[in-house]
Amino acid sequence: MKKTFASDNYSGVHPEVMEALLRANTGHAGSYGADEYTERAIAKFKTYFGNDIEVYFAYNGTGANVLGLSSLTRSFNSIICSDLAHINVDESTAPEKFLGCKLVTIPTKDGKIYPHEIENKIQRVDDQHHPQAGVISISQSTEYGTVYTIEEVKAIAAVAKKNNLYFHMDGSRIANAAVSLGKDFASFTRDAGVDVLSFGGTKNGMMFGEAVIFFNPAPAKYFKYIRKQGMQLHSKMRFISAQFEALLSNDLWKRNAGHCNNMAKLLEQELRTSGIEITQPVYANGIFAILPPAIIPALQEQNYFYIWNERTYEVRLMCSFDTTEEEIKNFGSKLRELLKKSQ
Ligand SMILES: Cc1ncc(COP(=O)(O)O)c(C=O)c1O
Repeated sequence: MKKTFASDNYSGVHPEVMEALLRANTGHAGSYGADEYTERAIAKFKTYFGNDIEVYFAYNGTGANVLGLSSLTRSFNSIICSDLAHINVDESTAPEKFLGCKLVTIPTKDGKIYPHEIENKIQRVDDQHHPQAGVISISQSTEYGTVYTIEEVKAIAAVAKKNNLYFHMDGSRIANAAVSLGKDFASFTRDAGVDVLSFGGTKNGMMFGEAVIFFNPAPAKYFKYIRKQGMQLHSKMRFISAQFEALLSNDLWKRNAGHCNNMAKLLEQELRTSGIEITQPVYANGIFAILPPAIIPALQEQNYFYIWNERTYEVRLMCSFDTTEEEIKNFGSKLRELLKKSQ
C-alpha cells in the first residue's frame, strides 16, 4: 500500500525500534516482565516521571485505557469524558463490557472538555439510584488533534479533587502533545494532577505496546491481577520493553513526534493556500478540513485518508514519523489540480 494520511498506525516500525527488537531477539529471557529489558524500560520511564510511579505494559491502547480505568472504578460508577473520546466511540463496547460503568459524555467542539461542563455532569452524588461519578477521562492530544494546556489539565484535576474523582488521561498520542506544548511529560500529567496515564507507543513508531502508568499508588494495588484477568499480560514481555527502551532513548519519541507535528503544519499550509477550510487548530499531527466531496475519491488515490464526518465532508489527515515533505507537496499539487478541474 502507498503511504497514506489515514492514521499514525498505518505507518510501519521506526528502524531504531526494529533494531532494538532484533537486539532483544537473542537467547532466553525471563517471561511476563521478569527480564532485564523490562527493568531498563521501567527505569527509563522513571527518568521522565520520577521514581515513585508504577509502570505496566499492555499490548494496545484500548487495553491500556480499559484496564487503567478498571483500577479506578466499580461497576456502579460513571466515567465523564468527551463524546469524541476513544473510549466512547472507538473501543466498541469494551469499556462497558469490562467495566460495567456508564460513560457520561460531554459534547465537544474541539475535542476537549472543560471544568464547568464536567461539574454539570457530577449529579446526584450519594443517590443510590444514580450512577456515581468516579473518573474524569481526557485524551492528550485529543481525537481532534488539539492539546490541553498545563493550566487546563490542572483545572480539570481541581474538579476531580474537589469531587473525590479519579483523573485518567488517554495518552495514546502523548508524545505529540509534549512536543506541541514544548514541555516535559511530567508537567502536564503527574505534576498537573493526573492519577493514571495510558502512555502510547504504537502511534509513535513502535510495532505494538502501550504503558499504564500510575502516579497515584492506591489504585495500582491490584493492577497486576487486573492486567492478567484482562488478557493484556504479554508473556514475552521483553519485546514490548525493548521497544519502549528504544523510544525513550536518544529522544527518539521527541524526534518522531516533532517530525509528524511539523509535517502536519506543512500539510495545513498546503491546504490553506489552496483555500481549504481547516476546522480545528493544528497542534499535533492531525488535520481536520472540509473538502469538496467531488474531489475526495481522486485525492484519496494520491494518499488515502478518512472521511471523519460523512455529512459535512470533514476529513481527517494524519501525519506519521515517516511522512515526507515530498509527499505533502505532491498531495498539495494534486489537490490544486483537482480543484482547478472541478471549477
Ligand atoms: C485517542 C486514542 N486512544 C487510544 C487509541 C488506541 O487504540 P488501539 O486499541 O487501537 O491501540 C487510539 C487509536 O486510534 C486513539 O486514537
